[in-house]
Amino acid sequence: MYLLEFAGEDDPFAAREAASAATGVRRIAPGVATARGVAPERVRGLAYTHRASALLGRTDAERESARALLEATPLERTGTVAVRATDVRGSSGVDTERVERDLGQVLVDRGFGVDLDDPDHLLRAIFSTGRLEGGSLAVDESTGDLITSLESTGDGETDGPRDERVSICALGWLETESVRDFGTRAPTDKPFFQPGSMDPLLARAVANVAGAEPDRTVLDPMCGTGGILVEAGLVGADVIGTDAQAKMVDGARANLAHFLESPALSPTGVDRGGWHVGRGDATRLPLRDGAVDGVVFDAPYGRQSKIDAHRLEDLVAGALAEARRVASRAVVVADRSWASEARDAGWELEAAFERRVHRSLTRYVLILS
Ligand SMILES: C[S@@+](CC[C@H](N)C(=O)[O-])C[C@H]1O[C@@H](n2cnc3c(N)ncnc32)[C@H](O)[C@@H]1O
Repeated sequence: MYLLEFAGEDDPFAAREAASAATGVRRIAPGVATARGVAPERVRGLAYTHRASALLGRTDAERESARALLEATPLERTGTVAVRATDVRGSSGVDTERVERDLGQVLVDRGFGVDLDDPDHLLRAIFSTGRLEGGSLAVDESTGDLITSLESTGDGETDGPRDERVSICALGWLETESVRDFGTRAPTDKPFFQPGSMDPLLARAVANVAGAEPDRTVLDPMCGTGGILVEAGLVGADVIGTDAQAKMVDGARANLAHFLESPALSPTGVDRGGWHVGRGDATRLPLRDGAVDGVVFDAPYGRQSKIDAHRLEDLVAGALAEARRVASRAVVVADRSWASEARDAGWELEAAFERRVHRSLTRYVLILS
């Protein structure tokens, strides 16, 4: 069993993204989940998960309980250790420095040497209390609206209890951490920038959910500045982009050349994927049936983007139908749900999330298969 520590505030979406790198993801407390198995190289590329640790055990969110748990747990490792404690969102009020000292003492008493700078093993002690809030959305069959659903992970796991306050301390040996270099790819710092470019964290997460990984091909048929394609390419996928505007095609090429054409290994440790961007209409893609593994796009937001010769509704409906023709999985980000258009295009709604970007902008993320 593994322990996952989420980043950001949206746990249901973080859990869904984590399911692209782990099996049996199950939320157990705010900011914390367990998983049956993890693919460490995939965890390194996650946007909304900080760390995965090999779970030692769990108890309630008290310093004394953590100490008792560690004393009672068989430890099969040898070498030097350090302890790092985290109180998720300050929810438990536990004194993390004291926890680190106490647990460090337990490890010393059990014969481990301490090396705070470069330990062989790092013990994570995660404290979290609160309610498991939110979840993915589902379609209300009678109205067609999106409603909150209780299922929130992608692979049939059910989260811990809702509406009940949970209090946990989970201990685990750190296994792998995600690479936090997203700040180096802020949209405004890229060679080509346009208002409406997607932030690299969300772009990485939707790329991961769409199945971006080595030996997979991911298409963004409305690629704009190429924000999603850059993130998909950095985790090793081959990427294809089209956009109706020549200016966007040139700009996306400049961005992809900048971030994907370096001979060095990518920060996530995998070779960067190959890329191809061309001018095209998302409703008439120049691709064969089943040509790609996943499609992911950020639909134009009504007034903001140029909508080459289409009404927005026709554009999105047409793009969804083309996506269905060329791939078996799609992720759509938009300022409205588009769930019924997705259904009309032959997709099944696997999950949907509502993400508040700022007060006047909510983005929907639809996961379609
Ligand atoms: C919201 S933007 C995408 C932003 C992108 N995710 C980014 O990070 O820069 C939508 C894009 O759809 C493109 N677009 C509009 N109509 C299109 C069509 N019929 N076919 C392809 N692209 C289209 C626009 O030119 C615009 O670049």
